Amino acid sequence: MLEDKTNIILAIETSCDETSVAVVKDGRDILANLIASQISIHQQFGGVVPEVASRKHMEVISLLVEEALAEAGVQKEDLACMAVTNGPGLAGALLVGVSFAKAYAFALGKPLLGVNHIMGHIYANFIEHPSISLPAVCLVVSGGHTHLFYLKSHDDIQVIGRTRDDAAGEAFDKIARAMGLGYPGGPLIDKLAREGNNSAFNFPRSWLEKGSLDFSFSGIKSAVLNTMNNAGMKGEELVQADLAASFQEAVVEVLVTKAFQAVEQMQVKSLLIAGGVAANSALRRKLETVGQEKEIKVYYPSPLLCTDNGAMIGVAGYYRFISGERAGLDLNAVPNLKL
Ligand code: KG4
Ligand code: ZN
Repeated sequence: MLEDKTNIILAIETSCDETSVAVVKDGRDILANLIASQISIHQQFGGVVPEVASRKHMEVISLLVEEALAEAGVQKEDLACMAVTNGPGLAGALLVGVSFAKAYAFALGKPLLGVNHIMGHIYANFIEHPSISLPAVCLVVSGGHTHLFYLKSHDDIQVIGRTRDDAAGEAFDKIARAMGLGYPGGPLIDKLAREGNNSAFNFPRSWLEKGSLDFSFSGIKSAVLNTMNNAGMKGEELVQADLAASFQEAVVEVLVTKAFQAVEQMQVKSLLIAGGVAANSALRRKLETVGQEKEIKVYYPSPLLCTDNGAMIGVAGYYRFISGERAGLDLNAVPNLKL
């Protein structure tokens, strides 16, 4: 029997190519976190096909909700609230989760909450490290986003840097595609790079204006593609592992340097990383090393919680829930939702 006065949240995430449903107790205990990945379906197209993603979410969402509640040992009546990602993401994909959550909340007479997907990524850190104290800086690096945040408190989270063109994960995916490695590219480049020389090619690092916490990855992406095209025209064979390692090194160096620059500018003692690219082994290694040198505590979620999942939406939702936030039944999917 579950004790009274606990806040059990049913969380739904359908912003891209993973249908995920989680049951989260008090923003810490993950009672269930089921993820139905569509990667194998989209792989044959070399990237996510939005229409296919929506249809696949539709097929599995009801079943996944039932399974998550059963795994958690929670009755629908015990739920405190429904939390759902309402943006940013693919419109049709988001709509499946939002419509389901609205109908479920209405039928059960439970409160509803819309959660920003990027906020979810940030909060993935609090699942395994509930004792993180704020203020802190968080670097969010995913397939669609590269942002630096200043987390002053749970109610005051500010954007202090963002990419001006491609997201870091997008650059990984595009380079992997050009190299013929497949989708999603990040984990494939990460693996291949382990066998390569990361200084074989000197790709450009984009620092932008002095002191800027913004990012730009289009220059490095073009440089890698040009190197590949030039070699192709000359009939030269490039060592794929060297190419992957050198590209990864350039991206990692910029991410790590700017993240610690933000830590210094905001005068905090903790750095959080989040989003799919936070699973990158070279990025984690370098952040750890520099963190130790500078005596800054570095936190990151385990790899499964770095990529899209419902648990992170449940945890982010919990902090909004206890601060009194609620959504109406007019909650909509907002593909370019801002923070
Ligand atoms: O956070 P996420 O699951 O979805 C978005 O919200 O975008 O991130 C997916 C991105 C993809 O671009 C993928 O290639 C990248 O995260 N990624 C990685 C790694 N694992 C996933 N990038 C680099 N190294 C990895 N190990
Ligand atoms: Zn994501």
